[in-house]
Amino acid sequence: MSNESALPAAMPSATDAALAPGAEWWRTAVIYQIYPRSFADASGDGIGDLPGITGRLDSLAALGVDAIWLSPFYTSPQKDAGYDVADYCDIDPLFGTLADFNAMTARAHELGIRVIVDLVPNHSSDQHRWFQAALAAGAGSVERARYIFRDGKGKNGELPPNNWQSVFGGPAWTRVTGADGQPEQWYLHLFDSSQPDLDWNNRWVRDQFLDVLRFWLDRGVDGFRVDVAHGMIKADGLPDYTPPAEGGSMGGGTATLEPGISDEATDDPPYWAQDGVHEIYREWRILLDSYPGGRILAAEAWVDPLSKVANWVRPDEMHQAFNFAYLETPWAGKDLRAVIDDSIEAFSAVGAPSTWVLSNHDVVRHASRLALTADNLQGHGIGPKTVGLPDQEVGLRRARAATALMLSLPGSAYIYQGEELGLPEAIDLPDSARQDPTWFRTNGERYGRDGCRVPLPWEADAPAFGFNGTGASWLPQPTGWSALARDKQLGVQGSTLELYRRALELRREHALGSGDVTWLDGYPDDVVAFRNGSVTVIANTGTKPIALPAGDVVLSSAPIDGELPGDATVWLV
Ligand code: BGC
Repeated sequence: MSNESALPAAMPSATDAALAPGAEWWRTAVIYQIYPRSFADASGDGIGDLPGITGRLDSLAALGVDAIWLSPFYTSPQKDAGYDVADYCDIDPLFGTLADFNAMTARAHELGIRVIVDLVPNHSSDQHRWFQAALAAGAGSVERARYIFRDGKGKNGELPPNNWQSVFGGPAWTRVTGADGQPEQWYLHLFDSSQPDLDWNNRWVRDQFLDVLRFWLDRGVDGFRVDVAHGMIKADGLPDYTPPAEGGSMGGGTATLEPGISDEATDDPPYWAQDGVHEIYREWRILLDSYPGGRILAAEAWVDPLSKVANWVRPDEMHQAFNFAYLETPWAGKDLRAVIDDSIEAFSAVGAPSTWVLSNHDVVRHASRLALTADNLQGHGIGPKTVGLPDQEVGLRRARAATALMLSLPGSAYIYQGEELGLPEAIDLPDSARQDPTWFRTNGERYGRDGCRVPLPWEADAPAFGFNGTGASWLPQPTGWSALARDKQLGVQGSTLELYRRALELRREHALGSGDVTWLDGYPDDVVAFRNGSVTVIANTGTKPIALPAGDVVLSSAPIDGELPGDATVWLV
């Protein structure tokens, strides 16, 4: 360990004074997702970094978030924007150093903001020393047993061991070449070929990750968002699997992250949601509980139905699981009421809070998604040739209404950087700028996720809209984003930023996070109307204006003139 990486003597932690006492803070927390490469760039190289984040934390404190979750900043060849980790206990020079991480965490804690980091245990980078050792050691070695190597099928092993497809398109197996230049075994990669899957049946792998957890817990992190938390165990024998035909949110012919959100139980593919994953999290939970201050685990588990997602947050497992069923719900009253009921029921059955989320770095931003007029599969993204492109005005209006609804719900909510500015998906990125492995693995058939990852606009008139001081940007920012820059919205009544800030303020003031939902009768089907404690919430997903009940409007997603117009949400007290 270098001097720089040594822990400072008085590392502020979640138990320090600026943070509210640790008791189950996560049950009601509003957690802001930072995508480090696109948040703020102090070095000016066009890629965001940790010092950039530290310098902008004040604005998140002013917004009123309780915690930040950072997508990966670890040492990585960046084949999948850092979700290909080559060293779990160090920072990629692109993002800074361990000292920068310490400084960022200390500043966040000073501001009363908890820090959650992303853990990527399903796979490492192919450049990780473990995988390099596995390649060098050859078939049958202990080094290979840390990953999922198999002999191929066919006369000379020329066929992959099974028919699984990668989430990013193409086969989920790659054949390696031996030192003698001859083709030999195959390894499994549910994602890009640069992301070999680890074998979680191997005790050695489990022990390494316990050490990784300790490393970051000792550094004062308040929790982990666990990547692909439904994928770490594969069915015995790695049986062939053919996904259902394409349609709705089901991914035809590919190992999509989501098995398809529905109310009914579905057969899980042999690589998702295997029972064996749960014992891993039980072991992690014991470790986290041995640390003070309420450290948490949040599962990225694309599983359905919600009653099954709840298995990830049983009392001795994780604390939270992302509610992707909610994210995938169309902007329609009936569907929203159903998913809210299902979420509260499923999570409270195991004593966990529901979570709510509308956007993240893997999905089309909700200011665009909610106005798409044709089906769009998760992860496929949108681009100039997509059918059913959104009307931006409708999208923003619905996004604001959807957010005002989400932030009124009991439980914990996730916000993805830039949604507080009303950013739409960047649709017109030039092909040459695209970087998502999905784009390359499907030969441009799927645009992938770059459109939701474009660097943030901070100041309308600065280079790269204030993302840095040089104007460099790893993905080009749409010129129209100057109007959405934070400095154009700060303190401006009616702006999206002020809507978010005020919603978070009221949410805290009225303790909405720890409240509950009591449905109100007498509204049309496309209206979502309920009381949460002292607040009445009405969301109109239809087009017809509706009369408002008695009370003072304390928050509204759109201008109100006596009635609640379509695509709008109000809070009244
Ligand atoms: C992350 C993605 C990533 C994938 C592979 C996910 O679900 O959120 O961004 O590409 O895991 O690590």
